[in-house]
Amino acid sequence: KKGSYDHFMQKEIHEQPHSLTTTMRGRLKDGGVLLGGLKEHLKTIRRCRRVVFIGCGTSYNAALAARPFVEELTGIPVTMEVASDLLDRQGPIYREDTAVFVSQSGETADTLHALDYALENGALCVGITNTVGSTLSRKTHCGVHINAGCEIGVASTKAYTSQIVAMAMMALAIGSDQISTQARRNAIISGLTSLPNSVSEVLKLDAEMKELASSLIDSESLLVFGRGYNYATALEGALKVKEVALMHSEGMLAGEMKHGPLALVDENLPIIVIATRDACFSKQQSVIQQLLSRKGRLIVMCSKGDASAVCPTGSCRVIEVPGVADCLQPVINIIPLQLLAYHLTVLRGFDVDQPRNLAKSVTTQ
Ligand code: UD1
Ligand code: F6R
Repeated sequence: KKGSYDHFMQKEIHEQPHSLTTTMRGRLKDGGVLLGGLKEHLKTIRRCRRVVFIGCGTSYNAALAARPFVEELTGIPVTMEVASDLLDRQGPIYREDTAVFVSQSGETADTLHALDYALENGALCVGITNTVGSTLSRKTHCGVHINAGCEIGVASTKAYTSQIVAMAMMALAIGSDQISTQARRNAIISGLTSLPNSVSEVLKLDAEMKELASSLIDSESLLVFGRGYNYATALEGALKVKEVALMHSEGMLAGEMKHGPLALVDENLPIIVIATRDACFSKQQSVIQQLLSRKGRLIVMCSKGDASAVCPTGSCRVIEVPGVADCLQPVINIIPLQLLAYHLTVLRGFDVDQPRNLAKSVTTQ
């Protein structure tokens, strides 16, 4: 089943041009988006007071990646909930809310308990899942199957990118009645169409990421700074590194750097800064300057051709990735980090597909 690959995680990372194609298959039609599972509910969703995203782990991170474009394309306020924390707080959920549950397996206990809670409180409950017939798929009022194909590696990879693309299509469908954003929607739809090709291109960084991994093999910790569309990329990259490579890693909001994390910076701690082109680019350039002036050991992810724009001194290691529509860039940017986590794990001699203490589907609370 692994074919020519050594591990399922590796196979699933490299499968992403195909899994993303199947996520979009039959859903981008005549310049618009058709999600069969949502079309009867779009009117209700457009009238809701807010969208609440609920999930755990990687699925939560996918929702966080979707938050900026859902807000932009729908104009509806979006709040984020880690499922267990919503339950711990018994946080407010209202009839006027649209609660969107994101889960690869559709069987995560925390997420399903949060679903019961939201159903009791009368919210419209929408599922985003990879598993047809799962409890999540059956109990939600409506939803979208991401159709990424079975994911076997415990570390979620292809489901993450397909979840983001499914939520991009959801945002486009909800916002499709707005004339003012028509041009923006068209640009994103054309970006979706060419996304699998850009994913194939970024996968060519495999050897480079293996080389980077070999330089990080003995590090105790790895920080990842992102912001805007790529805050989620920082969290998800760090989650991959900690869960499979068993290395301490934290994803951080770059805008928070001066409020504490800067104290950690020295010449030994490796720091990945995500600085691909979008509205936050110049802010990330100044973050890089500040880190360099404290002798930070930087690895900068930037858009193709931007190496000297992000690191004029030439003292950073640079990862250049293909540029896509800004809101879809998280789909591209996570892939080098997935490859890095994979190679770090192999080089450190840990089990890639069955990380210590973890299970694919967390069915207990
Ligand atoms: C559906 C078919 C697909 C077929 C296509 C043709 C299924 C599972 N899908 O896809 O095989 O090619 O029509 O038009 O038979 N749902 C939830 N919660 C969730 C996920 C989905 O309630 O978490 C519901 C949806 O609202 C919908 C149904 O499940 O009623 C199927 O969803 P989805 O597979 O996304 O719909 P289509 O893309 O239309
Ligand atoms: C990380 C990972 C976990 C899951 C989390 C939610 O690679 O796999 O963080 O994302 O347990 O699982 P699902 O999406 O099945 O609800």
